[in-house]
Amino acid sequence: MNRIHRFSVLLALTTAAALAEPFDPSGILLTWQRDPTTTMTIDWHSIEGVGIELVNDLSVGHNLPVKIPVYTKVRPSTLEFRARGETGWKKAEGRSFPFPFKEDRKGSLHRDGYSHSFPPSGRTVHRVELTALASDAVYEFRFDDGGKIHHFRTLPKTLSREVRFAAGGDIGFGTWTERMNRIAASHDPDFVIWGGDLAYCDGAKERLGRWYDFFDSLKKSLVTAEGRTIPVLATVGNHEVQGGFHKPGAQPDEAEDARRLRLSPYFMSFFAMPGQPGYNVLDFGDYLSVILLDSGHLNPVGGAQAAWLDETLSRRAKVPHVFPAYHVPGFGTFRPLSDRYATVIREQWVPLFEKYRLAVVFENHEHNYKRTVPIRNMKPDATGVTYLGDGAWGAWNIGITDRENKWYLEKADSLNHFILVKLKGPEARFEAFNLLGDVFDRHRARRP
Ligand SMILES: [Fe+2]
Ligand SMILES: [Fe+2]
Repeated sequence: MNRIHRFSVLLALTTAAALAEPFDPSGILLTWQRDPTTTMTIDWHSIEGVGIELVNDLSVGHNLPVKIPVYTKVRPSTLEFRARGETGWKKAEGRSFPFPFKEDRKGSLHRDGYSHSFPPSGRTVHRVELTALASDAVYEFRFDDGGKIHHFRTLPKTLSREVRFAAGGDIGFGTWTERMNRIAASHDPDFVIWGGDLAYCDGAKERLGRWYDFFDSLKKSLVTAEGRTIPVLATVGNHEVQGGFHKPGAQPDEAEDARRLRLSPYFMSFFAMPGQPGYNVLDFGDYLSVILLDSGHLNPVGGAQAAWLDETLSRRAKVPHVFPAYHVPGFGTFRPLSDRYATVIREQWVPLFEKYRLAVVFENHEHNYKRTVPIRNMKPDATGVTYLGDGAWGAWNIGITDRENKWYLEKADSLNHFILVKLKGPEARFEAFNLLGDVFDRHRARRP
């Protein structure tokens, strides 16, 4: 065999091996749209699809005939799953939809802000909801024959074991976010709650690449040592929405769902929960309800949302653990109480939290750590509500202002953190972890 021939055989073998490589999604996101004791919603992302054609085109800038690669088909939205211990795989089929935007030099959209000379490329979101699962059970899933096997765990129907979750907000991506994700994952939480400001994309087409990095960080680091992928419950923050905050009447004839999708194309596409209209509640058996609220980004804080919150809390008066989570704090560490967005939260929601005697509420947005005193009627009161926050999972720290006049701050420090919540019987325990993996604050609560 001459040298050239040997080289082409080798090349052919290498190419065949590369094409036979099992499919590995560019992003994986687990969440719930319904009952976390019997369902799981699995999202995964693929870069373009299968089968390539070379098509005639005109070059950008030079307008000369060229041939560019184009995928002929989107990948099928199928995965296989089984309960741990079972040998046979079951197939589940879902649906797919394109990423809100596609990298395309013609549209001047580049993932990193630079003009580059590569052909256009886009991604697809695939979504499957598995239902009728066993509770408190481990399941395996894979996207390809012979591909990597991932795991998830459903929740128990009753609080028969300790249920744990990690709460925080202002997430980001890259080194520090991944380190925080790994520390959180090492405590084996059943899920995380992320209260807004996720990839810092502002719903902007030009910042598409930040979501690539966000999902890359998520896939690498929000996984336990045993390989269990941790589900995410997210709320919307100002950095998920064009303009940051809801403005009434911009395009009065537009349908509300369409308006929210236009202003927050990534958040509304990537997170099946909360889904439209941008706030929702998730009930875990008879012991826990998580309320994901929109602190004025896609919906007004008052009006329909406040009425819904009142109704939602009244129906859960006997649930031992009820936790609202949202982005903008009513009791901030950085901004003053007079801040207009904080004021509306205290006018519209805080009276409801007090009326229904909640123990703890999660707030974010100000990139510090805080634990307030229990508050009722704007005064410290042992029967009041404690606000934990203030959103610094992986984002930069902002710092605390006017500390001496902020009577409501029991503990405040400006550092990255998450809060590990452990539910056992009627009691919830809270531990705040820093980037060293150390606990620097603790709290215990139960609904009064
Ligand atoms: Fe933020
Ligand atoms: Fe924010």
